[in-house]
Amino acid sequence: MPTQVLIASNNHHKADEIQTLLGSDYQCLTLSNFPDAPLVIEDANTFAGNAVKKALSLVNWLKTNNKEIEGWILADDSGLEVDALEGEPGVYSARYASNNDQNCSDAANNSKLLDKLEGIEPSRRTARFRCVIALAKIGEYAQPQIFNGICEGQISEAANGVNGFGYDPLFIPKNFNNSFGELDSEIKNLLSHRASALHQLKEWLTKN
Ligand code: IMP
Repeated sequence: MPTQVLIASNNHHKADEIQTLLGSDYQCLTLSNFPDAPLVIEDANTFAGNAVKKALSLVNWLKTNNKEIEGWILADDSGLEVDALEGEPGVYSARYASNNDQNCSDAANNSKLLDKLEGIEPSRRTARFRCVIALAKIGEYAQPQIFNGICEGQISEAANGVNGFGYDPLFIPKNFNNSFGELDSEIKNLLSHRASALHQLKEWLTKN
């Protein structure tokens, strides 16, 4: 029987990547399997703070609502840090172009980022994706285990490719000439911030 992992997200792109990276020993569910779960306000100023908040609020909600599920909650909080913008968009990655603190479209976020970087030469467009995962055991309201992953690269001068999600069409991983939007998902899943964090998580789970 695969171990159940409830991903504290509705983002099916993220969930698909996580299921692929965890493999068939794990069965991923998402918040679409629990449509009445409360929305968590991601107001912490660090990725780790938001990841822990998402994980623990779901542990609590499952428990108080007597939901029949065993296994783990996995909360991924991730985003892009651009050096020339002093780490922006950072924890605001999903709502960078928003005026009202609500998540907005990838196209709007990408377009804002390109505008902000206009005129900045390629050598100063360095950036990284960062992923922090909080892993909590369902039924146990204890401090989650934290896993960190980063992927270094740079921001292109135009959006390229349709693969992936979010800032993928703008992000060229280090030592490559193409964006994650152009590269195959197999390549992203070898290099990405999420792959790195999940690799550590899988290793931890085999020992716990
Ligand atoms: P979160 O769901 O609050 O963690 O927001 C993550 C946001 O960061 C997403 O909406 C994307 O804009 C961006 N992001 C995180 N990981 C990736 C990735 O792997 N590729 C592209 N964008 C990403």
